[in-house]
Amino acid sequence: MANLIISNLSKSFDNTGVIRDISFKVDEGEFCILLGPSGCGKTTVLRLIAGLEQQDSGEIFIADKEVSDLTPKERDIAMVFQSYALYPHMNVYENMSFSLKMQKQPEAEINRKVKETAALLELDNFLDRKPKELSGGQRQRVAIGRAIVRNPKLFLFDEPLSNLDAKLRNSMRVEIAGLHRKLKATTIYVTHDQVEAMTLGEKIVLLDQGQIQQIGTPNEMYNKPANIFVATFIGTPQINLLEGRLTDNQSGHTFTSGALTIPLERRDELNNYSGQNITIGIRPEALTPGDGPVKGIIELIEHLGPETLVYIKAGDTSLIAKAPSDFRGRQGEAISLNPDSKVIHFFSNGKRIG
Ligand SMILES: Nc1ncnc2c1ncn2[C@@H]1O[C@H](COP(=O)(O)OP(=O)(O)OP(=O)(O)O)[C@@H](O)[C@H]1O
Ligand SMILES: [Mg+2]
Repeated sequence: MANLIISNLSKSFDNTGVIRDISFKVDEGEFCILLGPSGCGKTTVLRLIAGLEQQDSGEIFIADKEVSDLTPKERDIAMVFQSYALYPHMNVYENMSFSLKMQKQPEAEINRKVKETAALLELDNFLDRKPKELSGGQRQRVAIGRAIVRNPKLFLFDEPLSNLDAKLRNSMRVEIAGLHRKLKATTIYVTHDQVEAMTLGEKIVLLDQGQIQQIGTPNEMYNKPANIFVATFIGTPQINLLEGRLTDNQSGHTFTSGALTIPLERRDELNNYSGQNITIGIRPEALTPGDGPVKGIIELIEHLGPETLVYIKAGDTSLIAKAPSDFRGRQGEAISLNPDSKVIHFFSNGKRIG
């Protein structure tokens, strides 16, 4: 296995910048998630790494070797696509052994590798079946198996679970995480699903409009979003954003947004922002019903089992709060909410303060 370094990579299609000066590293054996909304450039990044597209500028290093002049084959990368792209007329064994046959590896060696990989993926009983005789999850495992047998330098996964239903997606996610623990293969995994990213990744690279918004662990992304895009993209239900004005008072600061006034403890990082317009972000779980400064009317209640989501109108502002499962409020009732000031996020011109 190998490490990967992407350095100042840019790519345009028809004079439109699609990848704009991105740099990131994936260590040997690391599982890196490339996350972002549809059209942000995730597949293009993978295609550039694999050599299926040529960049306009910037460099790609695999195992510390610059690969821009190498063909896709010479780069020794395995890519697993959303569509699996299995050969329909070949059975599972033939699908998994195909690339090894093309490399003219000895028959006994091919047989050993395919059997070993099939056992790892629990496909041993399906080796004679054609893809159409398999479930979606099994097909997905064949596609992964085909990549594993090649023992590539790098695995690239492009939204491999998006064709599966929610339940199967969950179990495949657990399988892929387990597989990575066994193989310790350097992997870049593309998804637009933040839940998948948060549960699978050791490191997330979050992309928007061809630019990196933040690189970090799932925890860092959630607890210290670098800007408003990251704060809203990560977390369900979405973070509550309020635009307003910050002023100082004796004990700290006051944030005013329309009819809402929220007192805040003193924070050094806010000292230069008194009198300025800022945006604050409060995650739903940091806004709990109770005696607090945020007053509103309950618009809707969703009982989700372990917790309850409460949709509130506070003046012109819509807010979502998380309440315990035994929450007793009713639609149309007044409610007070208590924001946990320790975990409020502050943004100025879209960027995190502090
Ligand atoms: N060959 C191409 N020619 C012209 N434009 C392209 C080409 N390939 C991609 N694009 C454009 O580049 C942008 C990024 O595309 P890309 O497929 O990388 O996005 P993505 O993040 O993978 O999206 P999705 O989540 O929908 O798969 C899009 O606006 C797309 O239309
Ligand atoms: Mg894509």
